[in-house]
Amino acid sequence: MEIRKVGVIGCGLMGSGIAQVAATAGFETVVREVAEEPLKKGFEAIEKSLAKFVEKGTLTAQQKDETRQRLRGTTSLDDLADCDLVIEAITENLELKHETFGHLDKICKPETIFASNTSSLSITEMMTVTSLERQRRFIGLHFFNPVPIMKLVEVVRTILTDPAVYDEAVRFAERLGKVPVRTSDRTGFIVNRLLVPYMLDAIRALEEGVGSIVDIDNAMKLGCGYPMGPFTLGDFVGLDTTYYIAEIMFNEFREKRFAPPPLLKRMVKAGLHGRKTGRGFYDYTKDPKNPTPMNLL
Ligand code: CAA
Ligand code: NAD
Repeated sequence: MEIRKVGVIGCGLMGSGIAQVAATAGFETVVREVAEEPLKKGFEAIEKSLAKFVEKGTLTAQQKDETRQRLRGTTSLDDLADCDLVIEAITENLELKHETFGHLDKICKPETIFASNTSSLSITEMMTVTSLERQRRFIGLHFFNPVPIMKLVEVVRTILTDPAVYDEAVRFAERLGKVPVRTSDRTGFIVNRLLVPYMLDAIRALEEGVGSIVDIDNAMKLGCGYPMGPFTLGDFVGLDTTYYIAEIMFNEFREKRFAPPPLLKRMVKAGLHGRKTGRGFYDYTKDPKNPTPMNLL
């Protein structure tokens, strides 16, 4: 079955980017949010990103308009019933994802492929709420932030994945202009298994007084050539999401390197979720382009 129509669930940081790249690549795309307000915010991010591509000359104004015409927002899950592929990108919470996939399984075509963009949850655990036949058509498609720019997609198979579905998913990532890597359903897949302990260690280093937020960020940027230091990256990913991921990975592996540091937990409880709430390790509220470090200790 050829993938023509794509459904995306969640229009936050990741869902908006995934919907954008799917529509840009020529797929009819419908994205679902829980309410009009987050949908509007997601579409604003898409507009801004598409405008950047037009400004740079990598997309023409006509291609931008065509992309927008292929892209539709909705608050009803039922509007995804006729999709060939559904990619879930909602909050990193197994209960919410189960609820969503359980409903989708009842309304979608038997041949629809289900995919999750989860960072750390088990695809196998996620798919258990769907029929056995669907479980053969259930995969992980893990995109990276910012989706319109980052080239990688981890394509995740479980022990039940139909090889033809897996190949189709790899082809889909290629049709988006991305570079797929094949991986299996092990918590954190390739990237987060390596990246998450690094980000958490940076927070522990801050807690222990090894260096300030700015100095640790600069050290990793200028000493290792990383595009962003670990705190700028944490604010960019979302500290709530980083915290959920760490909890899930710690529960899976029971290893200290995945344990969320107390400072991260307190920041999330206090609503310091990074760029998306205006404050995290840095304060973006006054000048988002030149954020100032927060006094956290
Ligand atoms: N849409 C379109 N263009 C965008 C964009 C977007 N959303 N975001 C950035 N850009 C463009 C900018 O316009 C700019 O274009 P030009 O070079 O033509 O001017 C270019 O990208 C670079 O952007 P900036 O100059 O603003 O900043 P930068 O050089 O620091 O690059 C970045 C930004 C690409 C995000 C870079 O900092 C980077 O690669 N950071 C690391 C990101 C990363 O590690 N992501 C993975 C996070 S982990 C994850 O996603 C997995 C998980 O499960 C948590
Ligand atoms: P986010 O908080 O920016 O967005 C999540 C969105 O999901 C919110 O807008 C919320 O309203 C919406 N939502 C919640 N329940 C929903 C439902 N039932 N139906 C439709 N929408 C619903 O989070 P995010 O950063 O976009 O993360 C989404 C997923 O992508 C998570 O599983 C996360 O682990 C994963 N991920 C995140 C990153 C990252 O860098 N932030 C990178 C790769 C993967």
